[in-house]
Amino acid sequence: MNEILAKYISERNKKISTYLKSNRIEAYRAYDFELKDFPVNIDIYGKYAHIAIYEDSENSISEEIKNTIQEAIRESLHITVSHQIWKYRKQQKGKSQYEKLGHKKNLFTIKEYKSEFFINLTDYLDTGLFLDHRETRQLVAKLATNKERLLNLFSYTASFSVVAANAGIRFTTSVDMSNTYTEWAKENFRLNKMNTFDHIAIRENVFIFLDTAKKKRWKYDLIIIDPPTFSNSKKMRSPFDVQKDYPKLINTSLELLNDDGILLFSTNYKKFQLDDEKILARKIHDITKETIPIDFSDSNIHKCFMITKKEFYPLHISI
Ligand SMILES: C[S@@+](CC[C@H](N)C(=O)[O-])C[C@H]1O[C@@H](n2cnc3c(N)ncnc32)[C@H](O)[C@@H]1O
Repeated sequence: MNEILAKYISERNKKISTYLKSNRIEAYRAYDFELKDFPVNIDIYGKYAHIAIYEDSENSISEEIKNTIQEAIRESLHITVSHQIWKYRKQQKGKSQYEKLGHKKNLFTIKEYKSEFFINLTDYLDTGLFLDHRETRQLVAKLATNKERLLNLFSYTASFSVVAANAGIRFTTSVDMSNTYTEWAKENFRLNKMNTFDHIAIRENVFIFLDTAKKKRWKYDLIIIDPPTFSNSKKMRSPFDVQKDYPKLINTSLELLNDDGILLFSTNYKKFQLDDEKILARKIHDITKETIPIDFSDSNIHKCFMITKKEFYPLHISI
């Protein structure tokens, strides 16, 4: 059995090896649940494999299958079992998706194009870098050249701000409610030798930040909004639900956007539908297809929209 999977992974990785090497990409998806007998995702972060099992009643795996996968990873990717980190992902909601799993603080760094990021594979469900947004980050880098100010909402470890700063944007503001991720963001800024006066990470509820920013008339050239599907916390007046709350979130953010600015909105909610009529902007482009990296076979891993206030659309930007 493990030969089938090992061969599949080897061939898959051969196809993308030039893309990875020529772009200095050290974190990528090596296997994306393409074979129904092996219901996992295998992501490579430097010397480690991070294996996510999506466990529900239909999709849990036996010890035997687990051993087969371990062996296939060893054979095809030359990663020993000691460097394979397994995560059992149930459908998480609200706070539980960000809770701590451990305290090993086993941090290391990986490179991606011009940027570097701190990764922690053991202590949380997520790793510090969302790989499905690699091309979105490249788009942000392209949009950031010649721009002054970026606002990154629900910024997590601020990877969008890091790539924008490395592309030359002067000021970035990253907003996330979590203390852990705000600190992680600052570590990423330092790792990339960013000036932490011009590039700031604020621990705040996005909705409170938006109220303040509106009152103070702060303006941005580029706004990125990548919210969770659902979020709830003591700091929030009411729970956030992306499908219900996206019009208010996008429209309030548009008030902070300069007239020739660009807003990117993204969500991992698979059933998400955006109704253009509810958005107070001129142009809404669904750029989902262009932002799915070639190492992902799930074309519905995220949805992404580029929103502008004017007819203007940066057509010279090819992702
Ligand atoms: C999907 S992650 C964002 C991923 C990030 N944009 C990236 O590409 O790395 C969602 C983030 O939203 C944060 N969050 C959830 N609700 C929030 C709120 N009301 N205000 C601020 N941050 C929030 C979480 O702490 C988490 O870091």
